[in-house]
Amino acid sequence: MVVLITGGAGFIGSNFVRLVLEKRPAWKVVNLDKLTYSGNLENLRDVAEMEGGRRYFFVEGDVCDTAIVQALFSGAHPLFRRHKDLRPTQSLRCPIRAVVHFAAESHVDRSIRDASPFYRTNVEGTGVLLESARRYWQVDERPASTGNPFRFLHVSTDEVYGSLELHQAPFTEENPLKPNSPYAASKAAADLMIQAYVHTYGLPAVITRCGNNYGPYQHPEKFIPLFITNAFEEKRLPLYGDGHQVRDWIYVGDHCSALMAVLERGKIGEIYNIGARQEHTNLEVAELIVQRLEKSRDLIRSIADRPGHDRRYALEAKKIQSALGWKAEYSFRQGLDSTIRWYRDNSSWWKRLKNEEFWSYYKEFYGSV
Ligand code: NAD
Ligand code: TYD
Repeated sequence: MVVLITGGAGFIGSNFVRLVLEKRPAWKVVNLDKLTYSGNLENLRDVAEMEGGRRYFFVEGDVCDTAIVQALFSGAHPLFRRHKDLRPTQSLRCPIRAVVHFAAESHVDRSIRDASPFYRTNVEGTGVLLESARRYWQVDERPASTGNPFRFLHVSTDEVYGSLELHQAPFTEENPLKPNSPYAASKAAADLMIQAYVHTYGLPAVITRCGNNYGPYQHPEKFIPLFITNAFEEKRLPLYGDGHQVRDWIYVGDHCSALMAVLERGKIGEIYNIGARQEHTNLEVAELIVQRLEKSRDLIRSIADRPGHDRRYALEAKKIQSALGWKAEYSFRQGLDSTIRWYRDNSSWWKRLKNEEFWSYYKEFYGSV
């Protein structure tokens, strides 16, 4: 079985690739990634060394590029004919049985500065992938004939539901879509496109919507890794507004195990929220980070709020629990400690990403914080 994973060189995608190869020995992974600033082959160096050309295949490419995407589905991509790392007896001549679509522009702040790459990748890219998947799935009888139906999983976000007040109940799958940021709007558009393909063509697709992830390999522009790595370096921690915004945090390993459950056992056409019911204000998280790192609380610096900043996200994840028996394993405290350890042990990984380009982006947002 071959799984096409888009955006597998990013944070969640790379954690998912690792999980698949570890837990499903009969599966092969094709990772299609454009390697934007947030895609990093370092995230999968060990995997490429162990499994490259055997069970793991990397294709550098854009999900908006119809030619590459169609070639991957049809088996016409050079990868399927003869990968340079394959021995003559090996080939990847088996059909793509599943698509797990992570590839996206993912950072809200960047979407506020310039939304165009978000519309291109998250909307147009999803359209290209959907259209190619539909043609492949409608024409190609192989997956159905082997009794292992084709599956398309779109990895979406709780941000499509909009923002909650403190007194409101967490989002369920029935909540209407009310995205507020350009990022959230682009993900909501992609979700609606998936639903249209399920409705119109019967494409066997599922959607997951997850809360805020944290854990190994997250780019240091995001809140938790930014605060951890800045604190390591005794740099200030730029907290937006009053810091009382609430996010529902989930450890990336828990998100990935939920994706696996939905991919294998989720019902076609359904939406599954993925959450761990771990709501914390940004201020609480910042304070916990400085406390765990034994740094001064004075490092936390309040700055101007993000425009249109969503006040609270919270997710009800009863459906995935009752339907698929999935439950998060990590408490926020365990996950945060393990994340801090990972960033401590892998300082060369994040130091390379906090390069000149990063600091010029940083100054634009945070000034002289
Ligand atoms: P990320 O920014 O770390 O990774 C995105 C990956 O997509 C990168 O490897 C990048 O190179 C690749 N990519 C970007 N544009 C591409 C294109 N046009 N073609 C091919 N590849 C492209 O993001 P992440 O945090 O790992 O998020 C992955 C997915 O999960 C996204 O779809 C995001 O919306 C969703 N999600 C993220 C979170 C979160 O907390 N990080 C929560 C819920 C859902
Ligand atoms: P982020 O990691 O950007 O995720 P999202 O905006 O998708 O929820 O931010 C998480 C929260 O942390 C969000 O409320 C914004 C806040 N935040 C800061 O206060 N300072 C920062 O430097 C960053 C990046 C985020």
